Amino acid sequence: MSVTQFRSQEGSASAPVPVTFQTLQAKKQAGTPISALTAYDYATARLVDEAGIDLILVGDSLAQVVLGYDNTLPVTMEEMLHHTRAVRRAVRRAIVAADMPWGSYHLTVEEGVGNAVRFVKEAGAQAVKIEGGASRVELVERLTDAEIPVIGHLGLTPQSVNRMGGYKVQGKSIAAINELLHDAHALESAGAVLLVLEGVPREVAARITAEVGIPTIGIGAGPDCDGQILVIHDLVNLSFSPPAKFVRQYGDAAALFRNAIEGYRQDVEARAFPADSESYHLPKDVAPVFDRSPLRQKA
Ligand code: KIV
Repeated sequence: MSVTQFRSQEGSASAPVPVTFQTLQAKKQAGTPISALTAYDYATARLVDEAGIDLILVGDSLAQVVLGYDNTLPVTMEEMLHHTRAVRRAVRRAIVAADMPWGSYHLTVEEGVGNAVRFVKEAGAQAVKIEGGASRVELVERLTDAEIPVIGHLGLTPQSVNRMGGYKVQGKSIAAINELLHDAHALESAGAVLLVLEGVPREVAARITAEVGIPTIGIGAGPDCDGQILVIHDLVNLSFSPPAKFVRQYGDAAALFRNAIEGYRQDVEARAFPADSESYHLPKDVAPVFDRSPLRQKA
C-alpha cells in the first residue's frame, strides 16, 4: 500500500474516512444501525453520500424508477455500468455497490464472475449484489476468491417476479422460513459480507439477523435488521406509484419539481423569463457602433 492510499483511509477535513465492510461489521457488533439507500446518478449520489449514508446501492430498481420499465428484468449490464460510473464519480465516503442485473449471472458462474469484474474494473463498484440463496453458493465463493465482496439478497427477490407470481411477502410458512434460514447461512458460509432481506415478516428477519454473523439490511423486513435500505425515489415521492406498506416518504420531490416546472412555463409564456438581468450585453465600446450600424442587406 502506498503512503497516499494509507492517508486516504485515515480521512481529513476535505476527504472523509471511507466506509468499509469492516465498518459495517463493527456496527453490527455494536448494535449501531447501518443506513443504506439506492442512487443512480451523480447529483443524487452526491446528496446521499454527503448526508452520511453508509452504503449506496446502484439497484436494478433503476429499470423501473429511472428507465420506466414495468419490472427489473429488462435492465442490461451496459445500463447498470453506465449508472454505476455516474454514482462512483459522486461518492467519497459511502460504499458503492452495484446490483447484478437479471441474466448477468444466471447462465454460468464464469459469466457471473466476468460481469462482476466489469462492475469493479469499469465502474469502480466496491461490491456486487446478487439475488438468491443456496443455489448461488458457488458464485459467491468464486467472487469472494476474486476479491469481490458479495451482498446476498433473500426473501422477495424482484428478479423472481415471474416465478413468485407477483411481488409477495416471502417466508410465511415454517417450510419457507427454514429455507430462508438455510439460504442465509449458506450465503454467509460462502463468503457474503452482507445480506439484504426484502419483503419478509419482521419475526423472520429478526431471527436471521440474530443467527448470522454478517449484517442484515432490511427493506420491508421490519426494524430488527442491522440496517435499512430504501429506493431513493420512494423516499422522496418520485416513483409515480402508491407507496408500498414499508415505504416512508420523507419529502415530496414531485411537488417541488412540478411547482418549479409550472412556474418556468408560465414565465416563459408571459415573457417574464429571462429578465434583462439574466441576459448578456454587448461590451460598452461595441454597443454604440452596433446601434448605429445599418442592418445587413439581404443579397
Ligand atoms: O434494486 C434495488 O433497488 C434493490 C434494493 C432496494 C434492495 O434491490
